[in-house]
Amino acid sequence: MRKIHVIGIGAGDPDQLTLQAVKALRGTDVFFLLDKGEVKNDLTQLRRDILDAHLPEGSYRVVAARDPERDRKAGGAAYPSAVEDWRSARAGIYARLIAEELGEDGTGAFLVWGDPALYDSTLAILEEVLEQGSVAFTYDVVPGISSVSALAARHRTSLTRVARPMQITTGRRLAEGFPDGVDDVVVMLDAQQTFRRYAEEAGAEGRDGMDIYWGAYIGTPDEILVSGPLAEAGPRIERLRAEARERKGWIMDTYLLRRNPGDA
Ligand SMILES: C[S@@+](CC[C@H](N)C(=O)[O-])C[C@H]1O[C@@H](n2cnc3c(N)ncnc32)[C@H](O)[C@@H]1O
Repeated sequence: MRKIHVIGIGAGDPDQLTLQAVKALRGTDVFFLLDKGEVKNDLTQLRRDILDAHLPEGSYRVVAARDPERDRKAGGAAYPSAVEDWRSARAGIYARLIAEELGEDGTGAFLVWGDPALYDSTLAILEEVLEQGSVAFTYDVVPGISSVSALAARHRTSLTRVARPMQITTGRRLAEGFPDGVDDVVVMLDAQQTFRRYAEEAGAEGRDGMDIYWGAYIGTPDEILVSGPLAEAGPRIERLRAEARERKGWIMDTYLLRRNPGDA
């Protein structure tokens, strides 16, 4: 029976791999790397750097494939079905990779950025491949250090306050409003810098009670960190973000928005 490891590899720093992840790397015959296109080549290279950091050079086999394009213009009600179409296209590619590139008793691995449990579709895609029934395999999951954990550690802050909940959400969701019942919100996948609207609102109402802890390319040599009151840090983040995006052609950033007591 073919076997697949889904390995969380941390947010970019090769030292963030767990011992369990390194053991799984060492027990893998073929690594499947999905290339997201030109601007994300850096991410493929970072994955290769992680393999080089933990395995003897030239000792492993990588099979690269091109990720299908997602319809990024689909918004609102069309968004879930655009994501579903994209997942199905990926399922076809995964099925082919597993069937054609892995021997009957081979072990393959998908290296997942951060932790596979957070905004990542690898597990859903593998389930879809199994449902399609064209190739049989078992799989396990190795947890990784998420960009959320890495962000909190780099800012030396906790994500939760005493007996309070915390929410992880997306920029798209935050644009619909600050979530009810929480004062600590971690935002991922935010291409629109949605935090800006809260800086403006705070300013308009004469409030200054929201803090931001922001990080881009966390764990990589390009890492940028900014924290402070949103009204002051927000414009600085906007400037640094625009410069970095221009320089590298892509950006991955995450932030914690923290509403302070008396400001809710
Ligand atoms: C598709 S999600 C994957 C999340 C990943 N599974 C994790 O556990 O971090 C991609 C988002 O993760 C965040 N992210 C991932 N790596 C990051 C990094 N090194 N620095 C900052 N944010 C990162 C960004 O918000 C990005 O838009």
